[in-house]
Amino acid sequence: MSLLEVRGLTKIFGGLTAVKDVSFDVKKGEIVSLIGPNGAGKTTLFSMVTGLEKPTYGKVTFNNTDITGWEAYKVANLGLVTTFQKTKVFSSLTVEEAVLVGTHSKHKTTTLDIILRNKKFYSELERSKNKVTEILEYTKLSDKKDFMCAELSYGEQRVLEIAVAMAAEPRLLLLDEPVAGLNHTESKELMNMINDLRHSGVTILLIEHDMDLVMKISDRIVALNFGENICFGTPQEVTSNVRVIEAYLGSGEDVGGSGCY
Ligand SMILES: Nc1ncnc2c1ncn2[C@@H]1O[C@H](COP(=O)(O)OP(=O)(O)OP(=O)(O)O)[C@@H](O)[C@H]1O
Ligand SMILES: [Mg+2]
Repeated sequence: MSLLEVRGLTKIFGGLTAVKDVSFDVKKGEIVSLIGPNGAGKTTLFSMVTGLEKPTYGKVTFNNTDITGWEAYKVANLGLVTTFQKTKVFSSLTVEEAVLVGTHSKHKTTTLDIILRNKKFYSELERSKNKVTEILEYTKLSDKKDFMCAELSYGEQRVLEIAVAMAAEPRLLLLDEPVAGLNHTESKELMNMINDLRHSGVTILLIEHDMDLVMKISDRIVALNFGENICFGTPQEVTSNVRVIEAYLGSGEDVGGSGCY
């Protein structure tokens, strides 16, 4: 069953068509990656799915709910979560506090519960703290829990972004170039973590430039070029597709797709 369905999604900025009639779906438990050269429209497509940009045309369905044009916070409440460089926002918090803030969207306490500091407030806080401990262990950040976010290394800050997103209990996690700027070992570790996350039940939509990583981790790949979906298929189908090869190498004749649509 598809968790996410994107149909005919189009974004026009003034005279520029950044995303043109893109359709694909993400099934529960899959890792689907978006690839394409710089400026191909990957981030714009993400923004239309997460509610940061309204589509010019097209439809986005998440878990059978039409979420086209919804505000970002409403989309996030449904479990469609994305990472930002939140560590910048959280620089005055400790690592543990930042992840605790990430649990906020799942709280069932009302403002009155918080003011009254009643039993419901404390049991919710306890639940959140346990979840934070679990996430910090999972992401190997436990030793750094009392560090200020700004004190973490660049690589650790990228891991923290994912830890904060995990706190919101995502059903679908959208990651825009999560390993950008990391060295080879750090990239591999983070990708392993993303893969484990998928095995724990989180569906993932990923933007990534490193083709080796994309090919290893993805179940299916959407290849964009100048805003158009030139291929949607398995890693094997995408790597052997002439339009994809042409987009990346700028050569070869377009003799049609091979196995993807
Ligand atoms: N808010 C905007 N206003 C106008 N044009 C925009 C806006 N956002 C993106 N664009 C343009 O849309 C096109 C697609 O940009 P986008 O950022 O989606 O590409 P991308 O595939 O994510 O690229 P990269 O790999 O460099 O991150 C680009 O030509 C970009 O300049
Ligand atoms: Mg981008």
